[in-house]
Amino acid sequence: MRAFKTILVTGGAGFIGCNFIRYLLTKADFDGMIVNLDALTYAGNLESLADLTAPGTPTAARYSFERADICNRAAVKAIFAKYQPDAVVHFAAESHVDRSIHGPEAFIRTNVMGTFTLLDVARNAWKDRTDVLFHHVSTDEVYGSLGETGYFTEETPYDPRSPYSASKASSDHLVMAYHHTFGLPVTLTNCSNNYGPYQFPEKLIPVMILNMLEGKPLPVYGDGKNIRDWLYVEDHNSAVWTVMLNGRIGEKYNIGGENEWENIKLLKELIAAVAKQTGESPAEYEKLISYVKDRPGHDRRYAIDCSKLKKELGWKQSVTFNQGLDHTVGWYLGNPNWIERIQSGAYREWMEKNYGERYELPPV
Ligand code: NAD
Ligand code: TYD
Repeated sequence: MRAFKTILVTGGAGFIGCNFIRYLLTKADFDGMIVNLDALTYAGNLESLADLTAPGTPTAARYSFERADICNRAAVKAIFAKYQPDAVVHFAAESHVDRSIHGPEAFIRTNVMGTFTLLDVARNAWKDRTDVLFHHVSTDEVYGSLGETGYFTEETPYDPRSPYSASKASSDHLVMAYHHTFGLPVTLTNCSNNYGPYQFPEKLIPVMILNMLEGKPLPVYGDGKNIRDWLYVEDHNSAVWTVMLNGRIGEKYNIGGENEWENIKLLKELIAAVAKQTGESPAEYEKLISYVKDRPGHDRRYAIDCSKLKKELGWKQSVTFNQGLDHTVGWYLGNPNWIERIQSGAYREWMEKNYGERYELPPV
């Protein structure tokens, strides 16, 4: 089993990254330092970590934040020199398919050039060290789209079909190339759709929860029969940590929820979960369902075979879908301030006050 002293987490202010830092600070068997490197784009929110990292909190002593762009070689190099991390876990990315259709360039820049820059800085800083690890977090979308049957395995050929998945596929190839060519110790995971607390309200589950609470239409793309395999974010993060500790170097592992849902069926489950907690009748929410124009190139079905991870490393999911949904709905209902601030100008004002820069949402 590997042990790390200082872990550089990129994208630690985003949805999965902040949950990963929370996991490391409160649940994982890890007592080292965490450095959160994040550019704080529209998707990065340091308030998601404030209860664990604000000065005076017991875990704050093990945490540092560095605002930097992973494409900025000099900044990344300086962070490596300052903290001497012995592991990188790379979450930072442009992550939303719809945005990649409207503006692909940011995806190529961050996901391809940013990953390359990080790999190259790590390689130069670590030289021939073998007691270090670069863990890359990727998506099942690199494998393309499935028909009604079958699963993505680690051997499934790459067939990305959106600018987002193409940029992630490219980053995966670079990670493997740095391992094969330069001997960089890497591990790679490809996961299915995550859900849980702190997810930015542009992805399906938080969009639908917040629209229900506001009585707005629930936009279902196309016929609503696209299928995704839903994975609770903490289960994803326990898998990433398992692979970082015990995964074989140079190997990739799929992480899935083994939990496939058609979008429209998922929405009905979600409506039931929200109604249970708000006391509203599910029929009132169902009236809001609105079929809208399909996403161009919309992948039909994703489903992950994660038996390699289960058999080889003994990982398994810890929650059922209903437990995960109840917890997620409860979190959004219990955190109106987080929602209000991330949706309004308040967060931007907070960012400007704390970081002294203009903070603007990229156009969607
Ligand atoms: P997110 O969009 O919520 O967060 C991304 C974070 O990266 C933000 O904090 C943002 O500020 C930061 N970032 C963006 N560009 C940056 C740059 N140039 N330099 C430094 N930081 C930058 O994303 P997420 O949903 O938490 O996803 C995390 C990772 O997991 C991504 O690599 C994504 O491709 C992968 N993934 C996500 C899902 C999912 O369901 N959310 C599924 C599979 C894989
Ligand atoms: P999303 O959360 O954007 O994740 P991804 O595209 O990475 O799978 O979308 C999940 C599914 O939900 C996908 O099939 C698109 C669909 N969808 C809607 O029907 N309506 C929405 O408002 C959103 C955001 C997504």
